[in-house]
Amino acid sequence: MSHDFGGLRAVNNYDLEIEGGQIRGLIGPNGAGKTTIFNLITGIYKPTEGEIILGGKRITGLQPHRVASMGLGRTFQNLQLWRHMTVHEHVKMARYSKITYGLIGAFFGTPKRNREEEEIDKKAYALLEMMGIHHLADQIVINLPYGDQRRVEMARALAMDPKILLLDEPTAGMNPEELIQMMAIIRQVHKELGLAIFLIEHRLKVVMELCEIIQTLDFGRVIAEGTPEEIQNNPKVIDAYLGREALD
Ligand SMILES: Nc1ncnc2c1ncn2[C@@H]1O[C@H](COP(=O)(O)OP(=O)(O)OP(=O)(O)O)[C@@H](O)[C@H]1O
Ligand SMILES: [Mg+2]
Repeated sequence: MSHDFGGLRAVNNYDLEIEGGQIRGLIGPNGAGKTTIFNLITGIYKPTEGEIILGGKRITGLQPHRVASMGLGRTFQNLQLWRHMTVHEHVKMARYSKITYGLIGAFFGTPKRNREEEEIDKKAYALLEMMGIHHLADQIVINLPYGDQRRVEMARALAMDPKILLLDEPTAGMNPEELIQMMAIIRQVHKELGLAIFLIEHRLKVVMELCEIIQTLDFGRVIAEGTPEEIQNNPKVIDAYLGREALD
């Protein structure tokens, strides 16, 4: 697919196929078009050219909430949280989009409704536990350290049982200790929930250790695709990215 912003071709002939359960990475210099690709996949933008298929269904041009309900979860480069809600409420809110009891049930408190409420509660706590932040369930998100806010966002992304999870720089702004914890969480989520993960990262350690296949993007084009080892030794990648930026 391709995408133009006015005269700028931000994404040029981009192609990607992710199989169930895979962990893939996307790297490249600032402004290369990485986040734009996520915004195209998740329905925030409609590609100028091309198609997006999820589980055999065409999702090109669908609204973001529809795409999300079809099994695509994501987190944002700049956290997008409801600043005054509690941690637990965040995850529950996301889960509500899955409930089926409808308005009548919501008014009259049918047994089905109560059962579903209970399930949502339990599921939300289980996700917070997986993220290691269940003890913060009743805290207002705005009061939490940055690393914990990233975990809340990830729990929210998982609340709708996605088949694929898109993470836009999940360790940005984290200290080395938080980074190690986040990597462990990503591994755990992958193993326990068996979903596919597509990851944008500037921290090389994270991509190289987690991803099976990595794409490198430069000026909207994929200039290399391969295993971590292939990418690290690819002269084009070194020239366009690895040799250029100070990375840890
Ligand atoms: N909504 C928009 N309108 C116009 N131009 C945009 C828009 N969003 C992104 N761009 C431009 O498209 C290009 C790609 O931006 P994008 O945010 O996808 O890069 P990125 O690879 O995610 O960079 P970073 O590593 O800094 O997050 C940049 O030149 C950016 O200025
Ligand atoms: Mg970006």
